[in-house]
Amino acid sequence: MSVLSSALVRLLTLLGIVAAFLLPTTSADASAPLRTHAAAKGKFIGTALATSQLANEASYRTIAGTEFSQVTAENAMKWDSTEPSQGQFNFSGADQIVNFATQNNQQVHGHTLVWHQQTPGWVQGLGASAMRQAMQNHIAQVVGHYASNATVTSWDVVNEIFDDNGGWRTSFWYNTLGQSFVADAFRAARAADPDAKLCINDYNVEGINAKSTAMYNLVSSLRQQGVPVDCVGFQSHLAIQYGFPSDMQQNMERFAALGVTVRVTELDVRMQMPRDSSKDTTQATYYRNVVNACLAVTACAGVTIWGFTDKYSWVPDTFSGQGAALIYDENYQQKPSYTAVHDALAGGSNPDTTAPSTPGTPTVGTVTSNSAALSWTASTDTGGSGMAGYNVYREQGATDTLLGQSTSASITLTGLSPSTQYQVYVRARDGAGNLSANSALATFTTESGPGGGGGCTATGTIQTQWGGGYVVQPVTVTNTGTSAITGWTVTFTLPSGHTLVGSWNAAVTVSGQTVTAKNANYNGNLAPNASTSFGFQVARPSGNTQTPSGYTCA
Ligand code: G3I
Repeated sequence: MSVLSSALVRLLTLLGIVAAFLLPTTSADASAPLRTHAAAKGKFIGTALATSQLANEASYRTIAGTEFSQVTAENAMKWDSTEPSQGQFNFSGADQIVNFATQNNQQVHGHTLVWHQQTPGWVQGLGASAMRQAMQNHIAQVVGHYASNATVTSWDVVNEIFDDNGGWRTSFWYNTLGQSFVADAFRAARAADPDAKLCINDYNVEGINAKSTAMYNLVSSLRQQGVPVDCVGFQSHLAIQYGFPSDMQQNMERFAALGVTVRVTELDVRMQMPRDSSKDTTQATYYRNVVNACLAVTACAGVTIWGFTDKYSWVPDTFSGQGAALIYDENYQQKPSYTAVHDALAGGSNPDTTAPSTPGTPTVGTVTSNSAALSWTASTDTGGSGMAGYNVYREQGATDTLLGQSTSASITLTGLSPSTQYQVYVRARDGAGNLSANSALATFTTESGPGGGGGCTATGTIQTQWGGGYVVQPVTVTNTGTSAITGWTVTFTLPSGHTLVGSWNAAVTVSGQTVTAKNANYNGNLAPNASTSFGFQVARPSGNTQTPSGYTCA
């Protein structure tokens, strides 16, 4: 080694030692608050805040300021607070939130400029041109008020403009102004603050479904027209009884591919009261899954929880008998959901490779010609990621079939064949995807099929199509038999080169180009002549105009 190069090595070594003392460490302390771990991952972790609690409760203030790096005003920035009478602006509540955030080095996401709720009657009664002007003025004044304030970095410009079936919500905005109010609102917001990130926000758009696809198509089309839509907000008001939208990450990714950032804007996970430890565990899994989805998608800026303590939540007021949706209990004690959010944000260094314990032998309950109820003793998970649910398989020798999934220790299998013996077993699944050993087998035989001619039909309708894909919605499933059915299975064929992107209201599996759609757990029961529907989205080679064929129902 030359004198020069050994001097260089000594210098680099010295710099390395100095750097080790001076540079911030990249991994956060395990016990650090949520915001520390989130920052280490390049994400924000946020909460919605209410002004009266902020003013009146020290515990509320302490947790809000310590744990979170981002805040959203739960109500204080809505139109009925900021402009209750035309031209009379009141920023007292909004400023209280923004000042708190500034003191605690937090970002504020402005919520919300144009919504059909919490908007005063004087707006709703205006004619078209006066309403457009009032909207543009409101946006100019409210966004303008914070344009030079570095704490306020983004806005929900329009909120909840779609129905769950993907159609436009017939709000007073839409009824008076048509679809144009959306582009006008975004342009007004950009004009008022060129630096703020501008978002469209909605609920029930976490997974790939008709509503999120409508949002996807709108964002794509607005951006093609040069309308300044920067970001998409997934509210994420989830409930443990409805299942987790397991394609959330995939959904975020398809939006990210449009060039927008995405964010989880109003996360909470409600449950039927009373709370118990099994529900808490399931809830924690949902929180963990949402955080993990955001961590896995570079374009996801962060996750905002809609409040943090069960002491204050909109849920019990809106969903009777439900609650406990947040990560602290009503006494400000951290719940398993807090730990799940914390560990997901802090994760990476200790992957969970421990499978859950083996579930108990399934007990067979009611069996019909096409369904069977099973329950078993629950598993536990000690690997850190927590229990996610159970897979139920049919024992078939070399390749067993997945018959269903459940988040609790019971399931009603549907879509079974009549007069058939089934041997089934259960495997538990944890949040990291580890599967337990197989439970012991349970055996049952389905009843004989309905007399008098059972049967069902399925027909698919193309709802919308574009160069590279299409949405089939609805696929109408009708019971054409003379007795009720408790499950259905629809099969159809995708043209060569077409791939399924997502589906809703059915459990769908794909083998080659054959798609099998079984009823979801809430739409399998059909009386004679009754119908239900599901939908799906497909990607196809650009220029190809073929669509699926051969719908059959059994
Ligand atoms: O402030 C008044 C109080 O003076 C009065 O005594 C009391 C009587 O009902 O009402 C209080 O106002 C309530 C307000 O929350 C503040 O607590 C309103 O009635 C109530 O309707 C309002 O609910 C808010 C709801 O939006 C309104 O639609 C919830 O707090 C808020 O969490 C909720 O947030 C929405 C998001 O903005 C958009 N996405 C869905 C989300 C949940 O619904």
